Amino acid sequence: MGEWAAEGGVGCVLFLKLFPSSYRSRKPEEPGALWCTCHKKPLVKAACTRSLKALKLDYLDLYLMHWPMGFKSGEADLPMDHNGMIIPSNTDFLDTWEAMENLVATGLVRAIGVSNFNHEQLERILKKPNLRFKPVTNQIECHPYLTQKNLISFCQSRNVSVTAYLPLGGCSGGMHLMEDPTIQTIAQKHRKSAAQILIRFQIQRNVRVIPKSVNPKQILENFQVFDFELSEEDMTDLLGLDRNLRLATFPITENHKDYPFRTEF
Ligand SMILES: NC(=O)c1ccc[n+]([C@@H]2O[C@H](COP(=O)([O-])OP(=O)(O)OC[C@H]3O[C@@H](n4cnc5c(N)ncnc54)[C@H](OP(=O)(O)O)[C@@H]3O)[C@@H](O)[C@H]2O)c1
Repeated sequence: MGEWAAEGGVGCVLFLKLFPSSYRSRKPEEPGALWCTCHKKPLVKAACTRSLKALKLDYLDLYLMHWPMGFKSGEADLPMDHNGMIIPSNTDFLDTWEAMENLVATGLVRAIGVSNFNHEQLERILKKPNLRFKPVTNQIECHPYLTQKNLISFCQSRNVSVTAYLPLGGCSGGMHLMEDPTIQTIAQKHRKSAAQILIRFQIQRNVRVIPKSVNPKQILENFQVFDFELSEEDMTDLLGLDRNLRLATFPITENHKDYPFRTEF
């Protein structure tokens, strides 16, 4: 496995594949997630240990399965065939989950969760015979252009929290979510920034939210979301912006048996 596959590297490789070139100016971080080339049971502990070493920690509070899809293990983080499509591994994410449960049992991580799982995939884990630890969260792309109503209500009905990634619509060159006139109007009404509206929107849906910024002023701003409340009408307007617009489609994995975005939610 390449050096990238431990921490920020994987995030960065994935980032370059997921997003257009205008996105490629910064390196995203993906701490605490198991990369797809490490889904084989014997590889899981080694991957987690590498993460701990890279982060200089004794344990992780939360470790996620980054995608339900396993890729061929080896040097490349994105092993591709001659058509530029991902080469899968013959793994089943239920087996990978068992190996992740062992990480909790041995104290390397406190809790485990999943990312980019659709509701059928999540249900498979929840219904797994002899399940020892259920996923505490499903980290999914979520913002007003992809509100994820059905998946959120499914997760919450099963007591699995939802974490919203790309809550601000990602970096510039993306979908310009923060410039949306409806969001701007709500922001002006509350004397808040568009980013603060987007963060508060998730909080009021009982969704965890992980906006990212490298700018200290904006990092501070992104915490100042507990001194106002969006009205029911604001929430309805924001939910009304849904257009099922997914940024992180990961097209090179579309043929994978566990590609998560074929089903409605
Ligand atoms: N599980 C997965 O598959 C997956 C996939 C993608 C992303 N993620 C994670 O999701 C998290 C967020 O993703 P992201 O960074 O790609 O998207 P994001 O948080 O939606 O957007 C980040 C962009 O918003 C800007 N920004 C942040 N705060 C702002 C503010 N107050 N005002 C104006 N602009 C602001 C940032 O610029 P500045 O830095 O200049 O402030 C950056 O360009 C990250 O931790 C990422 O690792 C997970």
